[in-house]
Amino acid sequence: MRRLAWASVALAWFVACGPPAQSDPTLDTDAASAPDEVVADLTDEPAPDVAVDTAPDVLPSTDPPPLCRSAIAQPQWYHRAVGYEVFVRSFQDSDGDGIGDFKGLTSRLDYLNDGKPGGDDLGIDLLWLMPVNASPSDHGYDVTDYRKLNPQYGTDADFNAFLTAAHARGIRVVLDLVLNHCSKQHPWFQASAAGTDKADWFVWSDVALNWKQPFGNSPSWHANGKRWFYGVFADSMPDLNYTNPAVTAELTDVAQTWLDRGVDGYRLDAVRYLIETGAGNGQKDTPPTLAWWQTWATQLRQHQASAGKPEPLMVGEAWAANAIAAQYQAAGGLNMTFDFDLAAALLASLQNAAPETLAQVLCAEEGVFPKDAARGTFLTNHDMVRIATQLAEPAANRLAAVLLFALPGTPWVYYGEEIGLQNGTDSNDEAKRQPMQWQPGAGVGFTTGTPWQPANGDAATVSVQVQTAQADSLLALYRKLIALRQASDALAVGETRLLVAGSLLGVLRKAGQERILAVLNLGAAAVTPAWTALQLGGPVAATDLLTGATATNLRSVPPRGFALLRLQ
Ligand code: GLC
Repeated sequence: MRRLAWASVALAWFVACGPPAQSDPTLDTDAASAPDEVVADLTDEPAPDVAVDTAPDVLPSTDPPPLCRSAIAQPQWYHRAVGYEVFVRSFQDSDGDGIGDFKGLTSRLDYLNDGKPGGDDLGIDLLWLMPVNASPSDHGYDVTDYRKLNPQYGTDADFNAFLTAAHARGIRVVLDLVLNHCSKQHPWFQASAAGTDKADWFVWSDVALNWKQPFGNSPSWHANGKRWFYGVFADSMPDLNYTNPAVTAELTDVAQTWLDRGVDGYRLDAVRYLIETGAGNGQKDTPPTLAWWQTWATQLRQHQASAGKPEPLMVGEAWAANAIAAQYQAAGGLNMTFDFDLAAALLASLQNAAPETLAQVLCAEEGVFPKDAARGTFLTNHDMVRIATQLAEPAANRLAAVLLFALPGTPWVYYGEEIGLQNGTDSNDEAKRQPMQWQPGAGVGFTTGTPWQPANGDAATVSVQVQTAQADSLLALYRKLIALRQASDALAVGETRLLVAGSLLGVLRKAGQERILAVLNLGAAAVTPAWTALQLGGPVAATDLLTGATATNLRSVPPRGFALLRLQ
């Protein structure tokens, strides 16, 4: 049976691409084999009618699908992880004040991963907490004390208990670390502005300068008394001066201190903007910025190694084209960056039923990134309109989920994506960071009080409780996909080859003897694979590639249909 499955796929290549250079001696032409083992481990869409195909008379002759991405030769823990991004403020409130907190998060860890095999936990094992340091804002990207926690989220003891409970379940935790800037209310800035201390901790000018943001049109310099300070994001967030060794030493120590407290690494905010050398191009991706990260990353690695701990995860938010993001993993020394190009291509592919868009981006990465570079694969994050809102059609959301786990890279789920949480109606950032919906009813299980941000009104369908009871829910699909991913070397670190035909995409992942094929029809019309032997279920006849003889019963792939096939 296993050999028959392989024969099917080999034929898929064969029909699409012509005879392989050498015939495969393992092929089995046993047409009477039962189909069940050929069918996907995961077939969520209803089985369509069987379409009967016969062998084409003339086979097109091209090579098998080329290698799109190599396997990870030396996997580290973070290559195999499945990540989950949480906004603590919106995940679970434990004390009724309408604001999520560490105790609430701890109480929901069993949902994320109960540490036991099986069960209906989500199965993630890497958690990114958006900023948890002291901050006057809701979002927390303007820190007032890097060594303290936001008291709204709980005490040191609450955080320690959370960390211990996460680790006990096999969940590693990375914190959002915002190094580029701090809050205008940070005592460092207050002292610097008053001229009492920390004179060179920020970037000051005695003359007005007219630099715009490198990513927008707002000014980067802000008046303060008779001087101006540089704050690339906002007047409320002055940039720290990383040409000052004292600043570097302090923020390196901060990072080492939280590692000593047990966190496993960092999501590094806005890595492109640390050190400026002038207006325009001198405001982003400068050589001293890259060199700074290299030194910092090396120090953190050494720090962990000297404590006998594994390499910390340092995942950079380099929101830029991959050619730029790659610099932070080469010259910059970070071990992961988020794949913003792929996220955009994935969305465009789903919206236009055009997998070619995605394929072009994914397969171009091989030559750009260092060998074994870890990439953060994601659909959306806290700065984007939620995927469920951008892909209004539920079936498209299911395809997005399959892609997230079938494509290479470390997948990151933004909290709520697994239940199809919608954006709030506003266009502000808060609307991207709605309360997590646990159950129907007032407070949606998030709080017994009034949520800091009103929940969407759709918890009767979009909630954990409701979708846990439905075998075909989006949540159920995420759980299955994550379990498959966690159990599969091919999906986690294997090589990737893509088959693209119109709206149809095949993602073939392989590690050792393990082969997994995801088949997705991104289009609104059923398609019979051009690679005709891709079996999505039902009777299968064998094909002998040695002779080219074939007689197959094939299914077409329904609109927005998909399957994930194990080929062994
Ligand atoms: C990053 C964060 C964003 C934040 C900005 C400034 O882009 O993702 O949410 O506002 O940095 O810290």
